[in-house]
Amino acid sequence: MTAISADERLAWWREARFGMFIHWGIYADPAGIWKGEKIPSLGEWIMFNAKIPVEEYAEIAKTFNPVKFDADEWCRIARDAGMKYMVLTSKHHDGFALYHSPSDPYNIVDATPYAKDPIKALAEACPRYGLKLGFYYSQSQDWHEPHAAHTMRRDMDLNTPGFQEYIERKVKVQLKELLTQYGPIGLIWFDTPAFISEEQSLDLKDYVHSIQPECLVSGRIGNELGDYGSMGDNQIPAGRVEGDWETPATLNDTWGFKSYDHNWRPLSTLLLLLVDLASKGVNYLLNVGPTGEGIIPQPSVELLEGMGAWLRVNGEAVYGTQAGPFPYEFEWGRITQKPGKLYLHFTSWPDGEFTLNGIRNAAKKAYLLADPATEIAVVQGHDADADLHAIRLQLPKDAPDQIVSVVVLDIEGETDADEAPQAQSSGLISLPAYMATCDSDDDTATLTVGRSGIAENWQNTADFLTWGLKVSKPGTYAVKVITAPPTRWAKWQGDHTATVTIAGKSISCTITDDEKSASPRARYIDERVSNAGTITIDQSGACQAVVKASTILRDDSHTQGFCLVALDLIPV
Ligand code: GLC
Repeated sequence: MTAISADERLAWWREARFGMFIHWGIYADPAGIWKGEKIPSLGEWIMFNAKIPVEEYAEIAKTFNPVKFDADEWCRIARDAGMKYMVLTSKHHDGFALYHSPSDPYNIVDATPYAKDPIKALAEACPRYGLKLGFYYSQSQDWHEPHAAHTMRRDMDLNTPGFQEYIERKVKVQLKELLTQYGPIGLIWFDTPAFISEEQSLDLKDYVHSIQPECLVSGRIGNELGDYGSMGDNQIPAGRVEGDWETPATLNDTWGFKSYDHNWRPLSTLLLLLVDLASKGVNYLLNVGPTGEGIIPQPSVELLEGMGAWLRVNGEAVYGTQAGPFPYEFEWGRITQKPGKLYLHFTSWPDGEFTLNGIRNAAKKAYLLADPATEIAVVQGHDADADLHAIRLQLPKDAPDQIVSVVVLDIEGETDADEAPQAQSSGLISLPAYMATCDSDDDTATLTVGRSGIAENWQNTADFLTWGLKVSKPGTYAVKVITAPPTRWAKWQGDHTATVTIAGKSISCTITDDEKSASPRARYIDERVSNAGTITIDQSGACQAVVKASTILRDDSHTQGFCLVALDLIPV
């Protein structure tokens, strides 16, 4: 095996930031309807959800004939959207190969009237459009196989000879086909690893690298063994994440085509998510689900065109950038960076003056990315007593873009940021749970902050969260307590009580849902804002904030314990 480092393997992927996911298979023909009945949930799961027997499902292949499929058209759509890579389902959970698999006749060339290999066509077209090609491959679940992992059999023994035999006979053989029939492949996107042992994950990863050393392996190979991490479907991390991550995301509520899913996300949400993820160091793998005829649905095409139009102007602030210098989100937008440059992505355009706190570097100049000739006046300040750094920008009256406007700030040297939570331009101080320290008055602390960024498993009133923050303007602050269920499938629960202490002053409150949160995360997880009251902070400089849960209800409608996303302090 050629020795190649993870950094080398990841170089193109880190630069790319934005890719197209394509869920396409014979499930696109029923398109969410089976025997006249609308089958709930994901289009590509119809075999499982409608409990279609293997032989009956395989019948779909006999009429699957995507005569309108045009590899160049798909690549053009991806390129014009500003996407840099394409990940196509080569075999989904239904076990059907969307390419010519000489080892298994259950494939598009041998089992359908179409009889052509779309992956061959895409592999030829992708380089012409500057796209890297990768393959989704469902390694654990294969509903066509009696011994592959099947979600209905949660108790399945991983070490059954049947499962290992399936991996050797089908998975590895097909991976070899995929990695030898189509030239260089950017990545293999493994999925749903719940049933696979560490040895099996490692073995598959090594196997891929032994055939194509430069090919990346996705996080869902399982057991944390991917070349990069995969977030949950549509998962938006609460703040900056360490390492290399990707979020696979949908444009509507399905991956595989469903004729009646018209719940398209607006362009504004998609652009927000693109810059939100980039600001946290996460790639955005955005899905299209072509029809059984081979057409990418028109609403998807239009949304992608909108993203492309924005990226043609603002791509410099996304491609090849790194996560922003602060671990938290801003109400005005997000930050990405490259050496010597901070890109301020404004999702709401400030009225004239804007202040960025916490950057210690000297600012050289600022300008609009959409119009570099428009220089923006920069004034820099440092309050030595409170150790507060501020950069003030005088912005033009009109936003250059309706959705996300980018201001470039050139700075001296390597970014040096004061990461302690402090005031944003409007005066808001946001204290996210993932920046707090978890503590307890006794030694039974159960409270943790997981990858979702939410403080959860908070069952004990002795447990508490502490932040160190910096206050630039003493005065009275309204305290908002932002809560959410621990997962996006659960319902929000309130009614617990909490005590918030800031700079030695305390207030008590009941967790209510006074407002819906404005964060882009709130689209996926049910975040609510509870108005807790006000606290007056007398001094500027460093101080502490503490949240304790004073009562944690436990009954049929309060099953989650106290879950906290953030505390927001707003000057009144
Ligand atoms: C899920 C689903 C699958 C889909 C994938 C995309 O794990 O099982 O249908 O392909 O997410 O991320």
